[in-house]
Amino acid sequence: DWTMAAFKQQAIEKIRAQVGKGRVICGLSGGVDSSVVAALIHEAIGDQLTCVYVDHGLMRLGESEQVVSVFRDRFNINLVHKDASELFLGRLAGMTDPEQKRKTIGALFIDVFEEEAKKVGGADFLAQGTLYPDVIESVSVIGGPSVTIKSHHNVGGLPERMNMKLVEPLRELFKDEVRALGRELGLPEEMVGRHPFPGPGLAIRIPGQDITRDKLEILKKADAIYLEEIRNAGLYDAIWQAFTVLLPVRTVGVMGDSRSYDYACALRAVTSTDGMTADFYPFDMAFLGRVANRIINEVKGINRVTYDVTSKPPGTIEWE
Ligand code: XMP
Repeated sequence: DWTMAAFKQQAIEKIRAQVGKGRVICGLSGGVDSSVVAALIHEAIGDQLTCVYVDHGLMRLGESEQVVSVFRDRFNINLVHKDASELFLGRLAGMTDPEQKRKTIGALFIDVFEEEAKKVGGADFLAQGTLYPDVIESVSVIGGPSVTIKSHHNVGGLPERMNMKLVEPLRELFKDEVRALGRELGLPEEMVGRHPFPGPGLAIRIPGQDITRDKLEILKKADAIYLEEIRNAGLYDAIWQAFTVLLPVRTVGVMGDSRSYDYACALRAVTSTDGMTADFYPFDMAFLGRVANRIINEVKGINRVTYDVTSKPPGTIEWE
């Protein structure tokens, strides 16, 4: 894509002009925006960039490993992978209120990020994946739980506190342009085309109950099977977001000759253009039956699968 190639070159020159010989720190989340920012800045200034990936233990199956292998091993980027799952899960223990979970995770995230940034000796600049829609107005703050969207990613106050200036090379771009730029930079399609994922991660997909490592393992496995089936059916790109929710209820079932008493889960898939409104995805029943069978047979701990047919409004995309 000629336009994107030209944009990339311009952006690289701007970054070099702004940063000079300074040092830049970038928080990676595994999402599209921060991935593209990191790859772009790395192409501009190489080892003057350090990325920090704060792993809260609430990512999907294999995702943290993928971030590390792409950025550290393939792109050769200086990357700090901070496994902070003990800390996050410890702090979340016994917590069931959605907003309390969000605030706890958001605040802890900033603390850990700051600590890691200090450990690598700080930096002159903080890189952020701010997009054009964020610049013109915070559209994402309207409606429901997403009010706190900004509180997680926004490392608010940090640049001033650590005396850093901002580098925001995506400020002129819309999401689809960010994806095109990511492809131009050689990021894997799986990363560039990835569905949105909430900052608090799987913590808000274990609604109304205590978050434990056991439940996270169960949820991750079921979710991986669901997403694998969606990809195999060629439906991934037609869907805005798809995920599994581990329900706070156990149900009775029969497994062979014996009775089971395990968790129920809900599958969610929606189409949307901006996340503000959404329609449930009309899978065919054979597809849903196949996913349900696989989850129940392959995931110990789940014996019932339901499909969520609520659109937004009146529902939200996430369950909490
Ligand atoms: P809802 O559930 O409000 O979600 O319909 C709309 C979009 O926002 C995402 N979402 C979040 N993203 N932190 C985030 O970074 C959050 O706390 C949060 N809550 C919801 C959701 O996945 C969907 O894309």
